[in-house]
This record gives sequence, structure tokens and C-alpha cells, in this order.
Amino acid sequence: MSDPVVVGTDGSAAGSAAVEWAADDAARMRAPLRIVFALDRSPYDIPKFSTREWGDALTRNAEKVLTEAETLARERRPEIEVTTQAIEGAPAVVLRDQADGAAEIVVGSRGLGGFAGAVLGSVSVHVAGHARGPVVVVRAGLRTAHGEIVVGIDDSPQCDPALAYAFEQAVLRGATLRALYAWQAPVHAYAPEIVYDMDEIRRAQHQVAAAKLASWRQTYPQVKVVEDVRSAHPVEALNAASEKADLVVVGSHGRGALGSLALGSVSRGILHHARGAVAVVRSPRA
Ligand SMILES: Nc1ncnc2c1ncn2[C@@H]1O[C@H](COP(=O)(O)OP(=O)(O)OP(=O)(O)O)[C@@H](O)[C@H]1O
Ligand SMILES: [Mg+2]
Repeated sequence: MSDPVVVGTDGSAAGSAAVEWAADDAARMRAPLRIVFALDRSPYDIPKFSTREWGDALTRNAEKVLTEAETLARERRPEIEVTTQAIEGAPAVVLRDQADGAAEIVVGSRGLGGFAGAVLGSVSVHVAGHARGPVVVVRAGLRTAHGEIVVGIDDSPQCDPALAYAFEQAVLRGATLRALYAWQAPVHAYAPEIVYDMDEIRRAQHQVAAAKLASWRQTYPQVKVVEDVRSAHPVEALNAASEKADLVVVGSHGRGALGSLALGSVSRGILHHARGAVAVVRSPRA
């Protein structure tokens, strides 16, 4: 039996979009689907007030959210095995821990809390920043199928887990894979006398991308790969590409990121600005 696809939902629109996404992925992967609701009692833990009634109401709400999510998944994909689970604890921690042993974890970009202008909630940010393996962050209200997946690459080994996930997804969906490598010429504010042969740099950057992809293309000959090498800021380039893609896949860190940060600047930038779903893939062993 394959590892389960896990999805967290709080019953919000984005949470429901995550459930639908996860059901589709589970069907394609022939994996079971586990729907999780994290039951956080701590905000209701107010001294001097009796919490018993609230406790019952919270439990009923958890059951309601899970039943609705299960119905949604079963109607969408009757062939998959669906289980539900209410787990006590802070949602960010509960969901991060659920990623262990899962094929992937899917969350909505935001939930019921937060403030109106927020693009991402704290739970989705924490899970994307800390969970092992692939984390897919899904936005509500996007339904177009473009048949293309974008993967952001650089010349570091940190993007290998992202490449592995992106190629697998391309196979499962029969999608084209756009491998985007955005590079930037060094800024010579401090050494204006250094001159570059731009054509040579451009050729070298194409070689970086080709070398990175060569072994993957051999392993997955059935995937149509578009090597997209651009002189641009990676976040801008990935955002632009996201408008025509069903999914953008990035690693959690790139070449430049400080190891102490949960997410590199590109992963963070794309999570905040991408049009559609974003998968952040950290190595399962990291
Ligand atoms: N209690 C929960 N149980 C399961 N999944 C949850 C829970 N809370 C949030 N999630 C998941 O995380 C996604 C993002 O919600 P998040 O809580 O981060 O956003 P928010 O509620 O808008 O902001 P915040 O909670 O930070 O104020 C949801 O769509 C859902 O997939
Ligand atoms: Mg929330």
C-alpha cells in the first residue's frame, strides 16, 4: 500500500480546495487519503470560565468539518479510500507532524482566521517551512487546467527533491514540465571595471540547466520537458510562469539561502505571489 496523501482542512474555502486537490492526487497516486482536523482548545482555555460546553461544541465542530470534507472527497473521487481524524493540538504542529510517512501533505493557502488582506495563513506558512517531504499549498477558486507543471531549478543539490516530485507529478498528470532556471548577472556597483562576455555567460547558464536535467530526462523519457532559461529574478520568472501552470514546484532552499531559515527567499516569494498551487519540497531526510 502506498503512503497516504494527508490533507488538513478547517472547513474554509481554501481548506475545501485543498481537500479536492488531495483527493485528485490520491486517485492519481493510487494512495489512500487521510483528512485531518486539528482541534485546538487552547484559545478557549480562559481562566474562571467553565470550558465543558465549549469543549463539546468544539468536538461537534470538528466532526462536522471532517464529515463535510469526507463527503466532498468521496463525491469527487469515489474510488479512493478515505479516512478522517481529529487530532488535539496546534494546527501548525499537528499538520507538520502528519507529514512524516505521508506521500505529501496538502493545505489551503489560508483558512478561517487571519485578516482579510492576508494571502497566507500562519498554518500554511509553518507547514511549508517545516514539514518533511512535499507540501502543497492550494488556493481557493482556481480551476483551469493548463497541462503544465513548472519546476524552479538552480545549480544546487537542494532542488533535487523538487525535481523528483515535479517529474513524478508530470508523469501522473500527463503534463508538460517546464524547468525554469532564472539567473541574474552580477551587479557591478563595486567593481565597474569588470566586464563580462554576456554571450558566454548565457551559454554557461544554459549548460547549468541542461546538466541539472540530463539524468532526470533519462529516467523519465516519457515526460516532455521545456528548458526555460531566463535572465530574470527567480521569483518574478516563477510567478509569471505560474499563470499558465497547474502547479509550481520549488525546493525549500536554494543555493544562497541561509540554512537557519525555514524557507529560502524564492520559496517564500513564490508562496506569497503565485497564482495557483505551489509545492514546496524538502528532502525527507533533511
Ligand atoms: N484546525 C485546522 N485543522 C486542519 N487544518 C487546518 C486547521 N487550520 C488551518 N488548517 C489548514 O491550513 C490552511 C491555512 O489556514 P491558516 O490557519 O494558515 O490560515 P488563516 O486561518 O487564514 O490564518 P491564521 O490561522 O494564521 O490566523 C487551511 O486552509 C487548512 O488547510
Ligand atoms: Mg487558521
